[in-house]
Amino acid sequence: MLFFLYTIGCQMNEYDTDVYRHFLYQYGFQSTEDPYMADFIMVNTCAVRDKSIKKAVSFLGIAAKIKKEKPSLIVALTGCASTLILEELKNSSYIDFVWGALNQTEIPNKFSALLAKKGFQKTDKVQTQHSVHFTKELPIIFGCDSFCTYCIVPYLRGHEKSLPKDYLLSELDKAALAGYKEVLLLGQNVNHYGSDLDPSLTFAGLLQIMAGTYPAIRFDFLTSHPKDFDIQILRVMQNNPNIYRHFHLPAQHGDNEILQKMNRGYTKEEYFELITTIRSFFPMATLSTDLIVGFPGETDTAFGHTLDLIETVQFDMIFAAQYSKRPGTPAEAFPDQIPETTKRERINTLLEAQKRISKINNRRWIGRRCKLIITGKDQEHHFFGKTEEEKTVSIVSDSLVIGSEVSALITKIDNGSLIAEAWSL
Ligand code: SAM
Ligand code: SF4
Ligand code: F3S
Repeated sequence: MLFFLYTIGCQMNEYDTDVYRHFLYQYGFQSTEDPYMADFIMVNTCAVRDKSIKKAVSFLGIAAKIKKEKPSLIVALTGCASTLILEELKNSSYIDFVWGALNQTEIPNKFSALLAKKGFQKTDKVQTQHSVHFTKELPIIFGCDSFCTYCIVPYLRGHEKSLPKDYLLSELDKAALAGYKEVLLLGQNVNHYGSDLDPSLTFAGLLQIMAGTYPAIRFDFLTSHPKDFDIQILRVMQNNPNIYRHFHLPAQHGDNEILQKMNRGYTKEEYFELITTIRSFFPMATLSTDLIVGFPGETDTAFGHTLDLIETVQFDMIFAAQYSKRPGTPAEAFPDQIPETTKRERINTLLEAQKRISKINNRRWIGRRCKLIITGKDQEHHFFGKTEEEKTVSIVSDSLVIGSEVSALITKIDNGSLIAEAWSL
């Protein structure tokens, strides 16, 4: 029995897909790269932009066609956009299982019930196809209470709910035993972790416990909200070299008026101040951000402020998106919506500017010695590794092992990638 899982959206969705994958393995399924070979197809959907919904609807069309030829095929629709998509589909009778992004803790029971109903039984001979355990994704907080005016996530994923520290530590025990090398802590706003727990715990407090208890595991976290970022996190990072010096801090915009309309809770000056503080702790820190272009009311001047922002900060990477009207969000009804052509022009300008900045930014790495963790390999003996700042580096060697650590000297940039040679002192 073969399964094909199609995931759209963020790491939270990737994590949810993993929960389903784990179940399918337990019920004796194996994965396939070809949906036409599959006995089970799942599309785990995202609603953050209209484009993500269109992607899912178009894939469901393929699933419906396959099911016509193979009526025993099981089709599952899961994730943030499930309800929106069901409303949009004219015929959804070929879909066997629907589950949204709320009530994740109920997924195991609901999903097992479906598999049992379809005549599948749990097997002892679980054969996962993962040979190397590298990154364990671990949500620490579900939901979002920030209610940015453009964003549909809080309506689909519900209120914030922190996972108890003891549960998280037991998950880390399992990850360490299974040989995972790094753990990515997830949440829409990890900085809000723990205020709903009794006794309460801060994100910095949790990070200290985790990184201190598991010094052999490298930790990373996504996403930090600039309005709630706590300087204690930097102190914890300073005390624990096993936390990546990488900060994903979505700025969303560089114009104060737009930031206010977005309900982001900070000004661009406060954002700059935070970046300066981070760099005073970690001068080589890797910085990435999310930016939206074409938010309602964005004038040329306001867009220019976003360009100024990326020039000032000199991010390593940006994720830019054209504003997409989301049903039920306040910004849907804002006046002065921006034409699609203008949004396209602006995003191209932004991406071009960032290309240049990334190039300049990469140059400061040449001649640096660093400790790399080897994360993967291509067919031509090019290994890939990550620095402590989570910069990806390519290294040519016959003898490296995935998961090992190596000292390396970054020697050049080739096609935008940092290239290193193994280095021993
Ligand atoms: N919680 C994170 C934060 O506060 O930045 C991000 C989560 S959101 C799922 C991922 C990104 O999608 C956001 O950072 C934002 O840039 C983008 N996004 C959200 N709603 C959007 C919309 N309506 N149109 C375009 N991009 C959007
Ligand atoms: Fe959406 Fe804002 Fe919550 Fe991020 S913080 S998920 S952008 S509402
Ligand atoms: Fe993620 Fe998309 Fe849902 S970005 S939280 S999968 S709407």
